Amino acid sequence: MSIEDLESIAQAMVAPGKGIIAIDESNSTIKKRFDAVGVADSEEHRRAYREMLLTTPRLSDHISGAILYDETIRQSTKAGVPFTKVMMDAGILPGIKVDKGPQPLAGFPGEVVTEGLDGLRQRLSEYARLGAKFAKWRAVISIGEDSPSGTCIEANCHALARYAALCQEAGIVPMVEPEILMDGDHDIEVCYDVTEATLRSLFGSLYEQNVLLEGTILKPSMVISGKSCPQQASVDEVAEATVRCLKAAVPASLPGIVFLSGGQSDEQATANLNAMNQIGPHPWPLSFSYGRAMQQAALKLWAKDMKANFAEAQKTVALRAKENGLAALGQWQKAA
Ligand code: 13P
Repeated sequence: MSIEDLESIAQAMVAPGKGIIAIDESNSTIKKRFDAVGVADSEEHRRAYREMLLTTPRLSDHISGAILYDETIRQSTKAGVPFTKVMMDAGILPGIKVDKGPQPLAGFPGEVVTEGLDGLRQRLSEYARLGAKFAKWRAVISIGEDSPSGTCIEANCHALARYAALCQEAGIVPMVEPEILMDGDHDIEVCYDVTEATLRSLFGSLYEQNVLLEGTILKPSMVISGKSCPQQASVDEVAEATVRCLKAAVPASLPGIVFLSGGQSDEQATANLNAMNQIGPHPWPLSFSYGRAMQQAALKLWAKDMKANFAEAQKTVALRAKENGLAALGQWQKAA
């Protein structure tokens, strides 16, 4: 796999009007999602749910790739077709979550660092054989009274950069995800400062680890008010602050930026992305890599009746893909 291949995969991930569907919930996270809608957590239910999502008719109209979990990348449709084949046949790039989740950061109570570097070279070469074209690693930064510490930001960014270098060695495009959690009562200015500091540290680390930016995708959180902040910033304020922050910290050579939804409502996630693209042009395409904001409507319908609501659930996935695809072009309009 050449440098050109990494670049062309990264560009395909952010093709105009397209984004990513994140269905890489770990088994413990999908259990929480299933519990919330009364679905028993079993391997067959996890498989059937992901089959419903991935076989949505014309999903690739607005979706360039899907992020899978270790179990999911090995699964097949009920008819026995591997999910990776279904995706490649439909023109959807298979991606894989490779981090092993956050663990407490020793010496820094309440802060976490994402683990998963040990043995990653071997795991990546297996994932490449299984068909993965891109990978994802999520770092979690939370905002508190005295946090995040500089140490927490640096440790997470160093791990993200080591992961990214290993991905590129394996011919896999790294999606680097530093998520600043929305939890807390902080205002949007605090979120701006933490996001800018994190992104500056991240791009410093990527440079130190010889990561090719042209073959890398950034998956950030938006600059947004804390969930319990009494003063919630408007859509236009979120769009303006997020774009300003990215311009201050992200090199123009990056092929694209895809946001996580992070607990925003479906409409909020779409409206914020749309507003950012309406104040363009920007140095990079701004698109989406949503998990919850792509799936929550579908999960509720499917949970009520897996068979009878199968097609209806898929329709909501297609609709969310279309709305977010339009938002990636700044062409979404709120339903009257
Ligand atoms: P959300 O859009 O639900 O935040 O999920 C995206 C993701 O992949 C988080 O790691």
